[in-house]
Amino acid sequence: MQVKSILTADQFTRNDLDMILKNTARIENLLKKHKQLKILNEYILATMFFEPSTRTRLSFESAMHRLGGNVITAVGMQFSSLAKGETLYDTLKVLESYADICAIRHPKEGASTVAAKSISIPVINAGDGAGEHPTQAILDLYTISVHKDITQKKIKVGFVGDIKYGRTIHSLIKLLSNYNATFVFISPPEIGLPDKYKDTLKDLRIDFQETSDIQALADCDVGYITRIQEERFLDHATYEQFKDLYIINKNFLKSCRQDIIIMHPLPRLNEVSTDIDQMPQAVYFKQAEYGLYSRMTLLLYVTGQLDKLDAFT
Ligand code: NCD
Repeated sequence: MQVKSILTADQFTRNDLDMILKNTARIENLLKKHKQLKILNEYILATMFFEPSTRTRLSFESAMHRLGGNVITAVGMQFSSLAKGETLYDTLKVLESYADICAIRHPKEGASTVAAKSISIPVINAGDGAGEHPTQAILDLYTISVHKDITQKKIKVGFVGDIKYGRTIHSLIKLLSNYNATFVFISPPEIGLPDKYKDTLKDLRIDFQETSDIQALADCDVGYITRIQEERFLDHATYEQFKDLYIINKNFLKSCRQDIIIMHPLPRLNEVSTDIDQMPQAVYFKQAEYGLYSRMTLLLYVTGQLDKLDAFT
């Protein structure tokens, strides 16, 4: 099997992304007719989740089942041998014989890269601390592409909330840098975009603005709202100061472009009011659904099986 890991959003070229988006649309369509696309029957996916997750793990597992494959799972440090003091290396080393793909979520930035160096099966980064979350960014990009013509038009994307620790944002700006996009980062300066991402944007000559004023979202095509990442704060008082700072509700949306789409990787707390859930602008539940199709594409991508989709009509 051809080994392709997914560790960072940096690894994707514009061609890769266009190909992934095309196949995701194809899978979305195929699933209207087929419950299963039996391509990965002989494969086992190991989901190793050492931080909480609902959508990411379940959509990976559902994606594997819909591709006819099998899943084994280890959830929570406390229930694995890591709790007995085993190193991550030893835990992963045995996986090579138990599974063909490993999707891993770990609190430490860079953990999936270490994992990929330790084992010879494809590793998928399902979130590494405050680092990256490249597969979420793929489904986010797909969501944007469904609503906005990103191949032809310039788009302005406003990121709101915890831009410092929000790993989904870190990966998504990297993917969007392959398209004609400009960014507005809306947050208190203390939880603004880390310098390393700003430097990359500057190097790429991508236009971006930083502000703490939520009104900056008004002329954006996309509003990407995030939860303040409580678990990453060393001091709880700081978290308390930032939570509930920005709340997107029906009234606020009146001041925005009427064709803005409101996205959220979920889970949401209070930052997106339930009073907009039924509005056409609110796409976050669809976004989670697109996670299934995107992750099916990515499982076929890492196993080198994307061409097998040709057998389905
Ligand atoms: C995000 C994550 O885990 O980074 N959730 C997800 O994967 N959909 C966002 C978050 O936890 O706030």
